[in-house]
Amino acid sequence: MDIKGSIVLVTGGNRGLGKAFVQKLLEAGAKKVYVGSRTPIEATDPRLQPIKLDVTNEQDIAAVAEAAQDVNILINNAGIASSTSVLTEPSIQIARDIMETNYFGMLAMVRAFAPILKKNGGGTIVNVLSVLSWFTTPTTTSYAATKAAALLLTDGIRVELRSQGTQVVAVHVGFMDTDMATHVDPSRKVSPVDVATSVIEGVINGQEEVLADETSRYAKAALASDKKSFYQPIQADWDKAQQQI
Ligand SMILES: NC(=O)c1ccc[n+]([C@@H]2O[C@H](COP(=O)([O-])OP(=O)(O)OC[C@H]3O[C@@H](n4cnc5c(N)ncnc54)[C@H](OP(=O)(O)O)[C@@H]3O)[C@@H](O)[C@H]2O)c1
Repeated sequence: MDIKGSIVLVTGGNRGLGKAFVQKLLEAGAKKVYVGSRTPIEATDPRLQPIKLDVTNEQDIAAVAEAAQDVNILINNAGIASSTSVLTEPSIQIARDIMETNYFGMLAMVRAFAPILKKNGGGTIVNVLSVLSWFTTPTTTSYAATKAAALLLTDGIRVELRSQGTQVVAVHVGFMDTDMATHVDPSRKVSPVDVATSVIEGVINGQEEVLADETSRYAKAALASDKKSFYQPIQADWDKAQQQI
């Protein structure tokens, strides 16, 4: 699908990968970009349409769907994470909160916008997932479970929406240089602008899956051939960390 002349809604468009999407979409010729965020951004570019959107808030989603009837590309980017063990997290509520945003928020957006995309000729849905849609580590399990759920949501709606001509794109990436990954060594992170660029190329080329960095390409290949070996260094790191406590 061509980006030139398109009308796009980006969730969590105020910072991180979402902000990079907004920048690259304008460069690629998008006619209008709705920048969805919990606190609307200030924008001077007339092509930008800031809009209040908390993806866990049903009223926000209904109001955005009402206001943005011209959208033909939806980018489900908003997300949160945690980095503690599911067994020792102070409350199970942390896991529920991440699921509420990363899975139910995405689902609610898809349900609201699938009819709008149909009306506008089919369009595209981009779901930002992770390498952690495919595997986990002890400190990422709450987050990974939401991304695994979001992957199956993505696969299911792709089948369901094919007949209305909607392209559904799954985006997998390892660490990016955003607020979400401030704790990660810079050498392990890729630029969100590069990821946004790869995703936009993927949309233009009609791809159903974008593996946006080396980590995601490696993980997909390694897991397909030998899951047990893939988990051995994760187990070793965890065991070593436990001995140091
Ligand atoms: N960073 C990584 O290493 C990495 C790796 C793989 C995948 N991802 C995924 O990439 C996507 C973007 O993350 P990021 O790295 O750009 O993280 P980020 O810098 O922390 O940005 C997260 C964005 O999501 C928004 N958001 C959170 N909860 C929301 C809600 N309920 N409603 C609307 N917006 C909400 C935030 O808005 P506020 O400013 O209001 O908080 C912010 O705009 C996420 O889906 C994340 O899971 C990230």
